[in-house]
Amino acid sequence: MRDVVVAANWKMHTTPADAGDLARTIASRTREAGVTRVICPPFVSLGAVRDALAESDPDVAVGAQNVHHELAGAYTGEISAPMLVGLATWVIVGHSERRRDAAETDALIGRKLARVLEAGLRPILCVGEQLADREAGRAIAVVDAQLRGALTDHDPAATADGGLVIAYEPVWAIGTGRTATGADASAMADAIRAALDALGWGESGAATPVLYGGSVTSANIAEFLAEPSIDGALVGGASLKPDEMAGIVARAGITARARGLAG
Ligand code: 13P
Repeated sequence: MRDVVVAANWKMHTTPADAGDLARTIASRTREAGVTRVICPPFVSLGAVRDALAESDPDVAVGAQNVHHELAGAYTGEISAPMLVGLATWVIVGHSERRRDAAETDALIGRKLARVLEAGLRPILCVGEQLADREAGRAIAVVDAQLRGALTDHDPAATADGGLVIAYEPVWAIGTGRTATGADASAMADAIRAALDALGWGESGAATPVLYGGSVTSANIAEFLAEPSIDGALVGGASLKPDEMAGIVARAGITARARGLAG
């Protein structure tokens, strides 16, 4: 059975002074057997969050929101995968805000993915279409192209063994209060696994967790987790609110129990 994962993407929020307390509060409000929890603060707060969780709830993993595609070198202001080892165990790659603001291409995202896997970190690869793509009936084709662009050069078995998680985040649903329907998210999860199959992933594709992201809240999470093909959520704005995270992870706990993951 695929893991149930709730990942918090704090984006450019929190400081090293307040991130540890927030992580500790969220951890204490989200103890649900069988749910994999990940908190992704800004780079500068990784250490504070790691230390707070190590002492309060080591079951909550720490993730970075981005990583550079080279191992080291003259890249002012950048952070490489080896630098994250010891600070984080997960890394988000290909978030749509980075595709938009840092002009990240699928090929570049594929290189980042390689660095993440080489460092023994677990990648969350984000994909998702723009509103115009959905309206033009191109959503699945766009996501398919993103997956091919990022994954083509990767050995499926090694990537699956590295714990790849895919987050489907329709761009028009991020931070807008609009969400995809559960049925649309489910259809996309099926399309994502079909794309992995076409890339030669075989069984590994069917075993790859697919999360939904985009305006997820405690009020709408049930619609997504009611879909057997959806394995959790990548949460932005609501992930800064302990009450919201408590509700979201509580609902994920129901799915984890139904899947026999709760031990
Ligand atoms: P929101 O939940 O704020 O829409 O953000 C989603 C997201 O981008 C998570 O990576």
